[in-house]
Amino acid sequence: MQETAPLIAWDTKLETGIHVVDEEHKFLVQNLNLLNQVVHQKGIAQELLDDDVRAVLNNLAHYTQTHFVVEEELMRVWQYPGFSQHQAEHNDFIRRVMSLTSAFADGGMDISGTMLNYLREWLTTHILGTDHAMGNFLKGKGQT
Ligand SMILES: [Fe+2]
Ligand SMILES: [Fe+2]
Repeated sequence: MQETAPLIAWDTKLETGIHVVDEEHKFLVQNLNLLNQVVHQKGIAQELLDDDVRAVLNNLAHYTQTHFVVEEELMRVWQYPGFSQHQAEHNDFIRRVMSLTSAFADGGMDISGTMLNYLREWLTTHILGTDHAMGNFLKGKGQT
């Protein structure tokens, strides 16, 4: 597979300081970059390309949900006051990803534009804002 510029370049600015959260964010970023690379593959039959995209997209949706569970568990354990709002953002995102995934499965969507931009924007905005706020609170409680 030829190299495509990463959709998100990992940057220390993205780190929340909570080890498990940061490791999972790196993994999500890698998967999003993989999706971007798969979408931009050249010289491959459309059908095979669609299969690859579907597989990577399903993995990404699955890992994202697993990651949200981990964050929500940390917030619950430490009784984070911003829990409900944070969880609501996660739930909105899951709903959105599910509808994008099924729109793609139905063949009714151009994945390369709207969707990749949405995923990149959501992930970076959420990490830099909502996840960082959670990370600061958790660090204050001694969580590493
Ligand atoms: Fe996160
Ligand atoms: Fe989060």
